[in-house]
Amino acid sequence: MNGRRRGLVHRPLVVALAAAALSCARPGQPAAREDVDWRVTGAEPGQTRFSPLDQINAGNVKSLRVAWVYHAGDASPQNRSEIQATPIVVRGVLYSTSPSLVLFALRAATGEPLWRFDPFAGQSRRESHVNRGVAYWESGDDRRLFYTAGRRIWCVNAATGRPVPTFGDSGSVDLAAGLDRDVSRTQLVATSPGVIYRDFLIQPTRVSEGEGAAPGDVRAFDVRTGQVRWIFHTIPRDGEPGAESWPAASGRTAGGANSWTGMSVDNVRGIVFVPTGSASPDFYGGERLGQNLYANSLLALDAATGRRIWHFQTVHHDVWDRDLPAPPNLVSVVRDGRSVDAVAQITKSGFVFLFDRESGRPLFPVEERAAPPSDLAGEQTWPTQPIPSKPEPFARQRMTEADVTTLTPSAHDSALARFRRLRHDDLFTPPSREGTVVLPGFDGGGEWGGAAFDRTSGVLYVNASDVPWIAAMRERTESTPTSLPQTGEQLYVANCSSCHRADRRGDGGRTPSLVGVTERRSATEIRQIIERGKGFMPAFPTLPDAQKDAIVAYLGGRMVSAAPAAPTRSDDPRAAAGAAPSRFQFRGYERWRDAEGFPAIKPPWGTLSAIDLNTGEYRWRITLGEEASLTARGVPPTGTEMYGGPIVTAGGLVFIAATRDAKFRAFDKRTGTLLWETPLPAAGFATPSTYRVNGRQYVVIAAGGGKLGTPSGDSYVAFALPD
Ligand code: HEC
Repeated sequence: MNGRRRGLVHRPLVVALAAAALSCARPGQPAAREDVDWRVTGAEPGQTRFSPLDQINAGNVKSLRVAWVYHAGDASPQNRSEIQATPIVVRGVLYSTSPSLVLFALRAATGEPLWRFDPFAGQSRRESHVNRGVAYWESGDDRRLFYTAGRRIWCVNAATGRPVPTFGDSGSVDLAAGLDRDVSRTQLVATSPGVIYRDFLIQPTRVSEGEGAAPGDVRAFDVRTGQVRWIFHTIPRDGEPGAESWPAASGRTAGGANSWTGMSVDNVRGIVFVPTGSASPDFYGGERLGQNLYANSLLALDAATGRRIWHFQTVHHDVWDRDLPAPPNLVSVVRDGRSVDAVAQITKSGFVFLFDRESGRPLFPVEERAAPPSDLAGEQTWPTQPIPSKPEPFARQRMTEADVTTLTPSAHDSALARFRRLRHDDLFTPPSREGTVVLPGFDGGGEWGGAAFDRTSGVLYVNASDVPWIAAMRERTESTPTSLPQTGEQLYVANCSSCHRADRRGDGGRTPSLVGVTERRSATEIRQIIERGKGFMPAFPTLPDAQKDAIVAYLGGRMVSAAPAAPTRSDDPRAAAGAAPSRFQFRGYERWRDAEGFPAIKPPWGTLSAIDLNTGEYRWRITLGEEASLTARGVPPTGTEMYGGPIVTAGGLVFIAATRDAKFRAFDKRTGTLLWETPLPAAGFATPSTYRVNGRQYVVIAAGGGKLGTPSGDSYVAFALPD
């Protein structure tokens, strides 16, 4: 399964600690009044989300107070805007982004604004997508921030907030730079920050989940000039290793296998660890038969050259959207009395894979277990899938009749009736016409909030949503005849209503309402969204222009029919390469909920786990989050679905927001006991950070809401102990 293996070389633990870039008074502990930064969204290049600070600790966390609140001022309740960013802090200045992708700098001690940079200033249209933070690089007095808005990677002077004119084209480069195909008509943005290795910015991308998606090539950009310095093809070109796991010539046409969630860097060894997502289209692989390397893989690349050192594929021929959802944590564990530098990768399905960092050897054996076949014509799922022997999964992976909700008798009856009509036998039961239970759901299990690793104990903290979604497919010809004249309404029903619903009101979750959309967005914008996709909306690159226009007109309330679709030339690379649109179409991301909107499974719906990576055993697991309306009915806390992750500190604490109840909490990291909680102005669907300035420790979290039906917010809230 894995690529070339190198001999095991175990370096002393102290070398790995030095990579933390923290100046240390005694190992692991900064001098008492020294400022302590949080320079990378995951705390350090190895994304441990660990802080050596202990001023705030288990004894005094109860006294935490709001130190300051920063309002970005641009939340958009109508568009359900979000803030997913983890702020970084360098030399007493905090850098992060607003709901509409404005980059800003604040004094980290007071929240006082220093500057703002709007990448869309003076432009008629703003692109909107989420952003999980920014990257920082410095050399002497040259200090730069990197982040992405729309198609451009911006390089901004950290002192002034102005683009660096000598980088790329007056301060930005096209995210498509170096790709060897035309991607102008498909989605290409970045939602997670790049990572820095020496003078390289190694850049993640988010691409469409549907047909015609851009390839997931990983590129290193020169931090000074913006030039592409290396490219790794996550979908191998013919002749490259791994190409045999695809149909011929896929390297020119297939898309996805992108690293959207960001990466981790071992600066000492010069290795960048790149987790990748699934190949496109996500749910039907009939046109991409094979194992599909290096999709759904953890790749260890030489950070200086992009050369592959090893890889491990966590799902073969994925048809469940099981992207690797978070940058891995670079950890050290004790094995046979010795310290081993390892890399821990959480998955959406609830596994933790643990590998030796240099060789890629799994530290807990991985079994290739038989997996069920697909019953969709043309699909061939892979006969086996990798299952780690330890740790146990941190979320449920299989639902039985005994797991169906019992919240109310009627919720139980209707969920049970539906359960019996769905496929649900195995974690790897493929999507089907009747619908397949996907547990954990498409968003995990583990998600982009990531996990936190306590260097002092070897314990990994990971939160999870624990609710089922449904993967249902339909044959494209069943409802989308293209040879007949069609009204905008018919086209809408055939292409859009599975997600946006026949009444256009959306699903109250991920899919927005389209009622009044033509007042918010121009026809050109809507056409472009249809063509390129957006966030989790698939692209419709092969829909003829006349049909797009008819849909737009329908959305605007005018009834227009589209002429019969003439065979048009398409810029869809799949179509250009002679491929037909794939035979089966995904019916939409359905969270399986009861009539009240609660998950159709028994609680817990959200958890936080502490896993000892030395032994693979659990220290504890708790239910995380509360539905106030159920508590009022006397139901014990159920946990909630969540987005955003934990951090862990030397002060003995795990901080996490993430739940839909808009609380921010601190737990005793040894026991899982709740020590402190406070309401946020909006749900904190983000991972916090912590730092020390002028002798005072702060914990800060974005409260941007907008997901799971919660109101949008525009604030960053910082907490500290009273003076
Ligand atoms: C598989 C589910 C799915 C299908 C099918 C789908 N959409 Fe969407 N759509 C979404 C999601 C999810 C979003 C939110 C994207 C984001 O911002 O992350 C969205 C967003 C949009 C938006 C932007 C709305 C706004 O207020 O910003 C428009 C316009 C839109 N869709 C139109 C369409 C049209 C027209 C079709 C049919 C051709 C369609 N969608 C098919 C899931 C879908």
